[in-house]
Amino acid sequence: MLLRFLLTCCACVYAATAGKHDAYRSYSVHTIQVRNADDLQLIQDLQFDLDLDIWQYGMAGQRDAEVMVSPEKAREFLSALDENGLTHSILIADVAKSLEDHEDDIAAYRSSRKNRMIFSDYPRYAEVDSYMERMASTYPNLVTLVNAGPSFEGRAIKYLKISTTNFTDASKPIYFMDAMMHAREWVTTPVALYSIHRLLENRRPEDQDLLDDIDWIILPIVNPDGYEFSQTDNRLWRKTRSVNLNVSTECIGVDANRNFDIEFNTTGVFTNPCSNLFPGPYAFSEVETQYVRDILLEYLPRIQLYNDIHSHGNYVLFCYANKTLPPNAAHIHHIGAAMGAIMDSMKLPQARFYLVGNSGLVLYPTSGSADDYAQVVGVPFSYTMELPGYGYEFMVPPSYMDHMVKETWEGIAVSARLARIHYRRRFN
Ligand SMILES: *[C@@H]1O[C@H](CO)[C@@H](O)[C@H](O)[C@H]1NC(C)=O
Ligand SMILES: *[C@@H]1O[C@H](CO)[C@@H](O)[C@H](O)[C@H]1NC(C)=O
Ligand SMILES: *[C@@H]1O[C@H](CO)[C@@H](O)[C@H](O)[C@H]1NC(C)=O
Ligand SMILES: *[C@@H]1O[C@H](CO)[C@@H](O)[C@H](O)[C@H]1NC(C)=O
Repeated sequence: MLLRFLLTCCACVYAATAGKHDAYRSYSVHTIQVRNADDLQLIQDLQFDLDLDIWQYGMAGQRDAEVMVSPEKAREFLSALDENGLTHSILIADVAKSLEDHEDDIAAYRSSRKNRMIFSDYPRYAEVDSYMERMASTYPNLVTLVNAGPSFEGRAIKYLKISTTNFTDASKPIYFMDAMMHAREWVTTPVALYSIHRLLENRRPEDQDLLDDIDWIILPIVNPDGYEFSQTDNRLWRKTRSVNLNVSTECIGVDANRNFDIEFNTTGVFTNPCSNLFPGPYAFSEVETQYVRDILLEYLPRIQLYNDIHSHGNYVLFCYANKTLPPNAAHIHHIGAAMGAIMDSMKLPQARFYLVGNSGLVLYPTSGSADDYAQVVGVPFSYTMELPGYGYEFMVPPSYMDHMVKETWEGIAVSARLARIHYRRRFN
């Protein structure tokens, strides 16, 4: 408690005496053309020693890597790239400036709009909470609001259950989506909120089947502490905000998407608690990941599809992160490809095409991820979506959100319908 008080206090003093984004002054982000697996390995090998923050991993011939580096380590980093013959260029010269521009974008967008829709902006935790409360009271016959429990810092982590039969009809599959497991991935919560909006407030006749034939569990903010901290203090915060003095007196938080009990602490993680990829002292050390686990286990075997929404990069990823495939990989790929295809058909010119595939192969091998955990415990279709960054990556201007939420909803809708067909085949 004392530590938490001290940390909060330091944060206040800091905010009052310095520019909010000064911690990132002269940090730069570099685009790197990766030619092969050795290039990818080199970047990974430099990651810890040079304190790199990998914004995008890259894929030979498909995607460039994007890496943030501090001003102190930039020279060493760029020399290492040059020595190995890698082509690179500057994407962001000063991350602090870019974060300031991002805040200006948000302010300008807000003042230009009379009717602010919660899903076309970046709502704070309290706004999301009151939206969910409002949906529950406006649609009492369709919606049950559940409080899973408090986050580490005590914020209620809530989700909506949406159903025409109050989850009592076992012939219906359940679609479980969650968002904002990683704090800086701000575009993810609006996508979850827009899904709620389309199922309840703005349901269209052609989508009635999605409500009638499927039960929905929607958890818009898995990591509210991290999200609020990214709003108030550090825009690029990724982890939870848990303090564990046995682990570290210096650094706090755990990468929630490495904290699940599946091949825990094996690949794609760092043992140092200060790392952005610290998996935690043990699997499910974080209450936030425990709640996701508990939902998965409570509603098995009816959860037919789990969609863990992240950003950025335009990927639909499936299991397992160790590059092996589950037995129903052909069906998993079929649904993932259908999602990617419909979202691509609506894509903005600034967006990449969706890459659909095994997470270990098209992204990078990891362990302890939510999608792998869901697949292993028995969810037949488990995905991680990486939404578009449009070249702004984590700092997408809100003017893109109207489009992004609609495009992504189409992907969600198609995956829900296909997953339902497979569910009927399995059970009827
Ligand atoms: C569904 O049933 C539960 C348990 O009986 C109840 O608490 C909840 O209010 C119901 N929700 C709706 C939407 O009817
Ligand atoms: C820290 O370690 C002590 C002694 O092993 C243990 O009793 C305590 O539960 C640990 N605290 C946490 C937060 O893990
Ligand atoms: C994670 O693995 C590393 C390397 O094997 C080991 O040193 C470390 O103690 C492990 N951490 C935990 C929390 O198990
Ligand atoms: C990859 O992970 C899955 C799920 O944990 C496991 O069943 C499989 O044996 C693993 N494959 C290898 C090669 O480790």
